[in-house]
Amino acid sequence: MPEEHLPFSEEYTPGREAYLDFYRKSIEDIEAFWDERARELVWYRTWDIILDRSNPPFYRWFKGGETNINLNALDRWVGSSIFNKAAYYWEGEPGDRRVITYRELYREVNRLAWALRNLIGVKRGDTVTLYMPMIPELPVTMLAVTRVGAIHSVVFSGFSSQALADRIIDARARVLVTVDGFYRRGRVINLKESADQAVAIARDKGVEVEKVIVVKRAGNTVPWSGGRDVWYHKLLDEAPERVYVKPEPMKADDVLFILYTSGTTGKPKGIMHSVGGYMTYVYNVFKWNWDPRPGDVFWCAADIGWITGHTYIVYGPLMNGVTQVMYEGAPDYPDPGRIWEIIDRYDVTTFYTSPTLLRLLRKYGDEWVEKHSLETLRILGTVGEPINPEVWKWYYEKIGKGKAPIVDTWWQTETGAAMISPAPGISLVPLKPGSATYPLPGIVADVVDYTGEPVKPGEKGLLVVKEPWPGMLMGIWGDPDRYVRTYWSMFSRPEKGIWIYYPADYAVRDEDGYFWLLGRADEVLNVAGHRLGTIELEDALLTHPAVSEAAVVGAPDPVKGQVPVAAVVLREGYEPSEELEKELREVVRRLIGPIAVPAKILFVKKLPKTRSGKIMRRILIALIEDRPIGDVSTLEDPTAVEEVKRAIDEFKKLMKG
Ligand code: WTA
Repeated sequence: MPEEHLPFSEEYTPGREAYLDFYRKSIEDIEAFWDERARELVWYRTWDIILDRSNPPFYRWFKGGETNINLNALDRWVGSSIFNKAAYYWEGEPGDRRVITYRELYREVNRLAWALRNLIGVKRGDTVTLYMPMIPELPVTMLAVTRVGAIHSVVFSGFSSQALADRIIDARARVLVTVDGFYRRGRVINLKESADQAVAIARDKGVEVEKVIVVKRAGNTVPWSGGRDVWYHKLLDEAPERVYVKPEPMKADDVLFILYTSGTTGKPKGIMHSVGGYMTYVYNVFKWNWDPRPGDVFWCAADIGWITGHTYIVYGPLMNGVTQVMYEGAPDYPDPGRIWEIIDRYDVTTFYTSPTLLRLLRKYGDEWVEKHSLETLRILGTVGEPINPEVWKWYYEKIGKGKAPIVDTWWQTETGAAMISPAPGISLVPLKPGSATYPLPGIVADVVDYTGEPVKPGEKGLLVVKEPWPGMLMGIWGDPDRYVRTYWSMFSRPEKGIWIYYPADYAVRDEDGYFWLLGRADEVLNVAGHRLGTIELEDALLTHPAVSEAAVVGAPDPVKGQVPVAAVVLREGYEPSEELEKELREVVRRLIGPIAVPAKILFVKKLPKTRSGKIMRRILIALIEDRPIGDVSTLEDPTAVEEVKRAIDEFKKLMKG
């Protein structure tokens, strides 16, 4: 393929051997490699053990070390030239703008940390839930929480009050930080109202949120509960202007934050990241991915409510002293040129987004791109889903003008930062559209079959990671067994001391050793780059009195990658209707959030099930994707296949129409 020799500006002339040399050295002695990387950061106390392997798979990095991520994200810059430069160029959806320097960020974090500790009573080890949109107060609050040694749990502002309540309850959070409202497509979303509902649901379940801190963003009228609710700005006003709060010395293997993500059961899991390991991994991977330079303007157009935002809008860039763009609103509002306009306004050098957004913007037509120069772009990135080669090429040619390498980063909430991706900060390997290229330094990845044997080059298999890495999750909040079961039981051989991390992604490794990521191998959907558990959706549908059985699968979608489609069996006495379909979609919106609403509800009389009663989703998936349905010998009632096929064919006709 000619792509092997895609031209770049001279400084990014591909150098595969230089990269592979660096990589090979990194995995010769993983512990020594990470030891050296961790020493580039500020610690209160260095570690006694680089990697404690005594209780696998509960690996603990930098055992005995003490630090606080604030030391590296903020305090490190005091008195340096970075202190006076912009940390964030923030833009609200209506067009309001703010510039926040590292100095201002540092001051506000200190004041909020002081207030959290002295006025709210947040202590080391407490969990604080954040339900906030993309405003500067969100990174400020995350840093203030970690500064005092507490744990943040950020919940995406697009989640419903029920989803927020579930996460508050699981984390046993006593403090919630939210906003009055924020802008989305020109409308004010009243987030405080949802926050209040969540607090009420949590109370019914015995979890009392004692304080709700509210940032005034949109100025909308909000319900208020005296004694419990406090304004963020009032708290700051009470804090001394130049107060200094010493970053709480945390153990390297204390929990830095929890972030909930979907899995294969109905209950979202609280992924725990560690203070020392996450800090070390994220700092380094950021450098490798984006090759930051003093004049750079970095823009990760994700939401901080997801891991991408934690790592690439908050901790990664701040630990590297980088200037960023942060944007509140919808990417195509008020018109489809908004993203390109922002890139030009701030001379963005490095832009990182999802294939879904690229597909959407590409669909609007190139005239929106061509109005803007985009000449400052040096590196482009993608994350969250496989990127189709056509979209890759469009990104490369139309946006990067053929001179910016595309850094396709494969990773997960659980991995902390990118794991497989090009590393222009080390040496750029030749790119192939659609491949995330090689594992990053220190990452030992492979593609295996169901028995754990490596597959041949070009054959589809399952991705595995064979050595621990500092950015790895510490576990699942409150559920150590689920941690072992989900990630470490598929291929590990504990009796032989072999532990293998299983991400549940399909992959191919080609003859050149390049990795191609092919999507989830478990019952998790990837809708517009967002992870959704099919069972979570099914559970939501089953709460409606009309539903007796539900099966949710992903259908291919040209923009979102996948969309959820539900097949539903109704109870006696209920009839399919448009009204009912609307109601069912509403249930999902209320229990999870708008991102999870099924594109279509198919009403069927029965679902294909095994004789033991398990719904065979793979049959639905095969029918949707026009693939052979495979072995059906375990099917209880073969006529169920016909029934589902009829519904799916109707759905397809509808989609074409
Ligand atoms: C998918 C997002 C292909 C994958 C950072 C993974 C990708 C899941 C890529 C994690 C990529 C992420 N190419 N697939 N570059 N990046 N994925 O936890 O299926 O929201 O398991 O983390 O997204 O989603 P999560």
